[in-house]
Amino acid sequence: MAATDVDIFPIEEKRTLDLGGRVGFDSLPDQLVSKSVTQGFCFNILCVGETGIGKSTLMNSLFNTTFETDEANHYQNGVYLRPRTYELQESSVQLKLTIVDTVGFGDQINKDESYKPIVDYIDSQFENYLQEELKIQRCLFDHHDTRIHICLYFIAPTGHSLKSLDLVTMKKLDSKVNIIPIIAKADTISKGELDKFKIKIMSELVSNGVQIYQFPTDDEAVAEINSSMNAYLPFAVVGSTEEVKVGNKLVRVRQYPWGVVQVENESHCDFVKLREMLLRVNMEDLREQTHVRHYELYRRCKLEEMGFKDTDPDSKPFSLQETYEAKRKEFLGDLQRKEEEMRQMFVSKVKETEAELKEKERELHDKFEQLKRLHQEEKKKMEEKRRDLEDDLNAFNRKKMAAETLQAQSLQGSSQQPLKKDKDKKNFFSLPSSCSLPSGRNLN
Ligand code: GTP
Ligand code: MG
Repeated sequence: MAATDVDIFPIEEKRTLDLGGRVGFDSLPDQLVSKSVTQGFCFNILCVGETGIGKSTLMNSLFNTTFETDEANHYQNGVYLRPRTYELQESSVQLKLTIVDTVGFGDQINKDESYKPIVDYIDSQFENYLQEELKIQRCLFDHHDTRIHICLYFIAPTGHSLKSLDLVTMKKLDSKVNIIPIIAKADTISKGELDKFKIKIMSELVSNGVQIYQFPTDDEAVAEINSSMNAYLPFAVVGSTEEVKVGNKLVRVRQYPWGVVQVENESHCDFVKLREMLLRVNMEDLREQTHVRHYELYRRCKLEEMGFKDTDPDSKPFSLQETYEAKRKEFLGDLQRKEEEMRQMFVSKVKETEAELKEKERELHDKFEQLKRLHQEEKKKMEEKRRDLEDDLNAFNRKKMAAETLQAQSLQGSSQQPLKKDKDKKNFFSLPSSCSLPSGRNLN
């Protein structure tokens, strides 16, 4: 269809014409500026660095204000990110600034996973933006864009080399965010050591394939300053909240018994260079790079994961409708398969439980039968014992009656003839037939 259109309407060649006078579209850049100023800007900074390395102080120094700060302790179980958003205004320009801090970074004994919460945070901001873009009723104009535009990576001023935590973290982040490495608390390291440290850091970054943000040199207006500033990376910075009067100007300083370090003095540290590059020259490039490079990569991977492509295997434009249908079918198939698996599992579980119950029932029945047998045997034995006891009792009673009869006879005889006495004595233990116990009598 598209090919036929092209055949019918070939693209016309462009011709250059002269205007007879001013018509007004040269004000388009001004219109854009005015619209952007009305809309306001947003800028999101991620500060990655160990606890107490000077993140908050540097932010306060950079924006010449005092942001809220809660000191972190060194006993966090893991790393988490703390975003805070502020509305700032300079002249007529409104800036919605979000500063994201890493809390607990570098404090754990096992630091293998320290980079993960940072990566997850960056990805989830991309995901929020993508979800907004994919909505039918998009509201990107009003949407608070929280994608991270710059990651300031704070390096401890050891003078030795980068820690493996720094290398691993920067490597994991470099495809997701613009990274500017900075040497924090640069006032604590001598000038000679600092120069060597900078060279060491850059060579370690290069040998480990870590891509840091390079100030762009394609725009003529800033090419010169940017290319000269690239040579100063990583910036060695000093931050302070203390201000003293130098001449008739209040300046931020760090005071020591042997002298004063001025934060904004270029011969003392690179703070001014950082502020110049970050806020005054390249802020828009950082925003743009975030959108066209890092977010684009995230978006592409995500959409490919979801099955969307630009072209099909025959290099023809891929239909969104077809992709959707195919994905839907795949999803429904998956769902049915899972449902069937769950059903089978349920049936086999029920069968298993049923068999277990039957086995238990059989065991109980056997036990009952055995107890019943034992009980009957016991009963039989008791019955026999009872009979024996009855017999014994009968015999005893017979003997008792005989004895009583004899006793009575002997008492009678003693008063009549002595001869009969002997005869009775002889028969004492042979019971007369009339002395048996009545047969129905028992112990109970
Ligand atoms: P958490 O948020 O608690 O992780 O700390 P943080 O990284 O925000 O550090 P913060 O800015 O609170 O500074 C910690 C300490 O370091 C404070 O005592 C600061 O005065 C000091 N500090 C900050 N910046 C510098 C610096 O450039 N040089 C020196 N020597 N000390 C600094
Ligand atoms: Mg802090």
